[in-house]
Amino acid sequence: MHMIAKLALGTAFLALAAGGADAATATRAPFGQLSDGTKIEAVTLTNGHGMTAKIMTLGATLQSLVVPDKAGNKADITLGYDSAQEYLSHPDYFGASVGRYANRIAKGKFTLDGKTYTLATNDGPNSLHGGLRGFDKRMWKIDSVTSGPDAKVVLSYVSADGEEGFPGQLKVTATYALDENNELRLEYKATTSKPTVLNLTNHSYFNLSGNDARDVMGDMVTLHAARFTPVGATLIPTGERRAVAGTPFDFRTPHRVGDRIRDGRDQQIRYGRGYDHNFIVDGKAGTLRPAAVVEDPVSGRVMEISVTAPGIQFYTGNFLDGTFVGKNSRAYRQGDAICLEPGVFPDSPNHPDFPTSRLNPGQTYTNTIVYKFSTK
Ligand code: BGC
Repeated sequence: MHMIAKLALGTAFLALAAGGADAATATRAPFGQLSDGTKIEAVTLTNGHGMTAKIMTLGATLQSLVVPDKAGNKADITLGYDSAQEYLSHPDYFGASVGRYANRIAKGKFTLDGKTYTLATNDGPNSLHGGLRGFDKRMWKIDSVTSGPDAKVVLSYVSADGEEGFPGQLKVTATYALDENNELRLEYKATTSKPTVLNLTNHSYFNLSGNDARDVMGDMVTLHAARFTPVGATLIPTGERRAVAGTPFDFRTPHRVGDRIRDGRDQQIRYGRGYDHNFIVDGKAGTLRPAAVVEDPVSGRVMEISVTAPGIQFYTGNFLDGTFVGKNSRAYRQGDAICLEPGVFPDSPNHPDFPTSRLNPGQTYTNTIVYKFSTK
């Protein structure tokens, strides 16, 4: 409480010091339509330091994120498409809000209070990112749009009881807020009508080089995680919590992404075709704490991610194969981006000893992610 109050005061003071003209703004505008005629809207959050975040109603998706480099040049540092329809035609979860269950559930099955639930299997034998039509492919409603000192948009979605095989009606909100400290804060909240399981996250693909469009192998990554959850051949956790020390997974001090990504002696690297693993974020889940830092030495852009979640999936775009063409006519290939997806661990519903993914009626689920940008 104390810390939150202090942070709020700090933000207010900075906004005052920066002057009213600096207050971040939020504007709402049409963003084309889907091929079936559904109209899409987007809200653009802009601050006085050259950052803009555009969020569209399809999938409550972060469609673009413009950040200045060390010379002040602005560029979009996220992968994605120019039109909403392409997000549906070529689903890769670019920037999307993912649910009900981000990441994998083994064999698309779990048991809750003695009842077995069956989900669609859309990733080999497993269920991935909420099934055939997860939250990334749903229309979210814009609940509110507010300007500074934090520019903010609140989007909501009501998922029907039984949707994609999950129990309980789930009411979800996603709040994106941009402030004058170059922090983009994203908060997912949910309530349910019946006991259920969930894991909501954002699936942005970051490439801090922006318009230079280099791959991310030269990015320096720090992960505040002493352990990770190794997986089997279909990327389901084995249940082990393994120390990163002495492995290619040790990012406790900054390492170039590419330095150990081809270390074929490590079976985990082979299973993931690189990094596609859940890291256990150090410190106490439920409190906002540093999870990751990504630095692009060329542009000088630095992104720090703080999370409340117990884990963070570090994925290096291993399944991008050059067939999808995104913004700036760029064909996306393996290693073109870094995803850092904070949440509970993969397949938690089938691992009673993992942090719980269960939500009961009367409880409120939250997952808070703060992306802070600076240059070096
Ligand atoms: C998963 C990858 C998957 C990707 C799909 C990530 O969260 O870990 O295995 O291919 O999402 O976009």
